[in-house]
Amino acid sequence: MKAHHEEGLTVPSHRGRQEPSRPFPSTNRCARGTIVATGDVAKRICALRREIEEHNRRYYLLDDPIISDAEYDRLLRELERLEQEHPEYASADSPTQRPGAPPLDAFEPSPHLSPMLSLANVFDETELSEFVERTQRALGGEPVMFVCEPKLDGVAVNLLYEEGRLVRAATRGDGTVGEDVTANARTIRSLPLELDGSRAPVPSRVEIRGEVVISRADFAALNEEREAAGEPAFANPRNAAAGSLRQLDSSVTARRPLDLYVHSHGHVEPRHFDTHSRFLADAGRWGCRVHPLIRRASNVAEISAYYETVERRRERLDVDIDGVVVKVDSLDQQHRLGELSRSPRWAVAYKFKPRQAVTRVRDIVASVGRLGTITPVAELEPVALGGVTIANASLHNMDEIRRKDVRIGDWVVVERAGDVIPQVVKPLVDRRDGSERRFRMVRKCPACGSRVVRLEGEVAYRCTGRSCPAQLKEALRHFAGKTAMDIDGLGEKLVSNLVDSGMLRSFADLYRLDVERLAALERMGPKSAANLVRAIEESRTRSLDRLIYALGIRHVGETAARILARAFGSLDRLATATVEELTAVDGIGPEMAAAVRAFFDDPGNRRMLAELEEVGVRPSTAAGEESDRLAGKTFVLTGTLSLPRNRVKELIQQAGGTVSSSVSRKTDYVVVGEDPGSKLRKARELGVATIGERELWELIGRPA
Ligand code: IVH
Repeated sequence: MKAHHEEGLTVPSHRGRQEPSRPFPSTNRCARGTIVATGDVAKRICALRREIEEHNRRYYLLDDPIISDAEYDRLLRELERLEQEHPEYASADSPTQRPGAPPLDAFEPSPHLSPMLSLANVFDETELSEFVERTQRALGGEPVMFVCEPKLDGVAVNLLYEEGRLVRAATRGDGTVGEDVTANARTIRSLPLELDGSRAPVPSRVEIRGEVVISRADFAALNEEREAAGEPAFANPRNAAAGSLRQLDSSVTARRPLDLYVHSHGHVEPRHFDTHSRFLADAGRWGCRVHPLIRRASNVAEISAYYETVERRRERLDVDIDGVVVKVDSLDQQHRLGELSRSPRWAVAYKFKPRQAVTRVRDIVASVGRLGTITPVAELEPVALGGVTIANASLHNMDEIRRKDVRIGDWVVVERAGDVIPQVVKPLVDRRDGSERRFRMVRKCPACGSRVVRLEGEVAYRCTGRSCPAQLKEALRHFAGKTAMDIDGLGEKLVSNLVDSGMLRSFADLYRLDVERLAALERMGPKSAANLVRAIEESRTRSLDRLIYALGIRHVGETAARILARAFGSLDRLATATVEELTAVDGIGPEMAAAVRAFFDDPGNRRMLAELEEVGVRPSTAAGEESDRLAGKTFVLTGTLSLPRNRVKELIQQAGGTVSSSVSRKTDYVVVGEDPGSKLRKARELGVATIGERELWELIGRPA
């Protein structure tokens, strides 16, 4: 989800002319606000304020929003409209007047030198034209140049630099006082701890503002790891970025793939630039990352063209964006235009249309995950949404179903937020005809009939079955996955067929499959059967870290598996490591150590491992094969390489290097394959070394 609560706080343009607020004539107090409401309008205002405040709290404090941004925007717009039409009910405490939530107690408060404003929204070309005309009029008709930027869907930070050094990083908080997250921000690699003054003069004191984001690729990998570790997945990159930045333990933040894009500034002294575009150019020279898709425009047509181009490219950008921001370029003009309450008159957010559709919930089914977690999933009448067909949407858990009151048979609004999992926004209650049914959590696992329990302190229900086919299918899918044993051709359907037909009851059974039996399966010719058997054969010697990851030990994601493989060198040594030995390893915490121990203490798992050995699964990476040749070096891959990307990544990692998904000044090499993407251009822009595959193998010391 996006920074909706921030930009959503459009301040009505007539606010300056508004009458002072008058108290309501009744005794009934509104939960939030000084006013008391009577009558329908007042009641609605009250209800809206209360509801929006609750969503603010969930969004800002809990990083756990339960409504979509579009829905939030609608609530806020309705409230704004009512407050505009009924200025007598205005209140300084209304959520329309506050850009966010007050800072969380867990962090030290950190006052901003100049306030962090929010942006008013426009939603179509007419509203955009109104903004442009208003701006031109207010400047007495003099020429105005605008700067158009992507509106990044992340978390705002304010970075205070003194004499070029980062002294404080703060979240936005309520716009005046934020939360001090300096220790966490320092772990973000694209955030310069010191500004480079060699190419542009650095002010002695400057507040640099930007958006902390997680790229889509990194987000996908992060969630995959979390799922592997049995941890709840993040709903979207913005939530993941927010949760990561507001960690109490900065070593957790350090392991999250956070990035920073600079988009504005607060207080500056002395100021050497007089336009926003000049500031962005200088920030780039100081070593900050500035989004490459920023353009100047001088009229509505140019801004609209920019908006359309960016919207078209939206899916292909590596970070989520939810609109474009249009700013007056001249700082002098900005100053003359000034601010309205909480948002400047010189900038506006031009939001993309939400990708929503209405469809019907055919059923709600309990789906069993690899670790036995049972997730309610809405089966939908297929509907087209932003270029794909949506047929189901996760309802996450029972609390969520209850909160949204989604029922079987309901007409619902579904939405794709960014490019992530489709969400059910809400049921259309008015369309109910009485035939809708509430979903009840199953008492028995739909796959194996075992008891379903809800563990204390958890929202999730779990299947208690030891040999549940649904769990087995998920476990096998994970085992065969690209970043695990990488068994090409063993997809979801096939796994399901093989389990249902009794041919697969364990990981080891995979290695007992033969071409003949496989070829007898429906839709499986001799050729694909042979290919699959070959792929399975090849997986016998996958590296130790992949095998450890493939086993699906709770809390052990790809990174942890690599750490464990390096530290213990063999499955036997890992299996006998004590909790103390495990926690002694850098990067392995007590929870993970306990999970590893529990996994290997389990007699069923021990049998499973013995069986794997019996069928000849022998991980290839003895500790000795690893090297430090690439230690401390960061690589970015672009274009098609002769080996699968994951394999190249693995080889770099085995040699001690790191692979990142985006190019920054910290990147040491960009490895360029055929048909390279924008990363090559970025590397050239930043002067990062580019090498071919052959040079990579030379660096690694591996024959090409
Ligand atoms: S300029 C008053 N530029 O949107 C100027 N903000 O609602 C505000 N945002 O808090 C900052 N992309 O977190 C600016 N290119 C961009 C942005 C951007 C995302 C966020 C930012 C701000 C919120 C404003």
